[in-house]
Amino acid sequence: MKSILEFGRMREQGEKISMITCYDAWSAKIIQSTPIDCILIGDSCAMVMHGQPSTVFMEVETMALHTRAVARGAPGKFLIGDVPFLAHRKGLKPLMDAVEQLMKAGAHAVKVEGAAGHLSHIAHVVESGVPVMGHLGLTPQSVNQLGGFKVQGKGEEAARRMMDDALSLERAGCFALVLECIPAPLAGEITRLLTIPTIGIGSGPDTSGQVLVLQDLLGMDPSFKPKFVRRYLDGYTQMRNALEHYHLDVKAGEFPVKEESFV
Ligand code: KIV
Repeated sequence: MKSILEFGRMREQGEKISMITCYDAWSAKIIQSTPIDCILIGDSCAMVMHGQPSTVFMEVETMALHTRAVARGAPGKFLIGDVPFLAHRKGLKPLMDAVEQLMKAGAHAVKVEGAAGHLSHIAHVVESGVPVMGHLGLTPQSVNQLGGFKVQGKGEEAARRMMDDALSLERAGCFALVLECIPAPLAGEITRLLTIPTIGIGSGPDTSGQVLVLQDLLGMDPSFKPKFVRRYLDGYTQMRNALEHYHLDVKAGEFPVKEESFV
């Protein structure tokens, strides 16, 4: 299993870091068999797995449940568990309780969105022996404040603020930083400014690594195709065709056959 030291070394040596989201044991088992560097049990789980309109609806207990499932499926991967909506904004005790739940569920690190107002709490988590991944740019838990899922860090002032936040998160002890949906030149600039790795999503090629939502990469939702997603599979069509084929076989009495039956 890779460690945060390995991720730092990869950044230094210019080796890109591959991260993928995962929420369940069976896909974790597939990821386990690949060389992918680390897994994020993201709170995007609220939208992808639970059909919620945003990540605001995720709870710590649900994150822990999904983290446990992924840990069972991918025991050899470095797992990062997302601290969900407001769990880091209610004071140190609720944050530490959330971190404890995620770590005891099998995470090796936690991810916390944003910087302003909870930097000292992040430092406390790090000082407690828990690696923290920061997250700047389009922080989906703040979607209502941001006015929608929009590119962030546009314009000099916003870019300057994000660079300051990135430096503050590094100083607070974060071992890596997700940069979501920011202009590629800004992501490159932040990456050069920091000594910790940056993991981009919708932020161009000049970050230390990339993350995608597994179901986006697999093309599971034909109605969701943001510019930054590359589909490596038409999973929706393939799965739909398989289900239709099964249905037709059952209707025609062609499943199961003798070889698929006990005698
Ligand atoms: O929740 C999530 O999946 C994330 C990634 C998109 C970075 O935060």
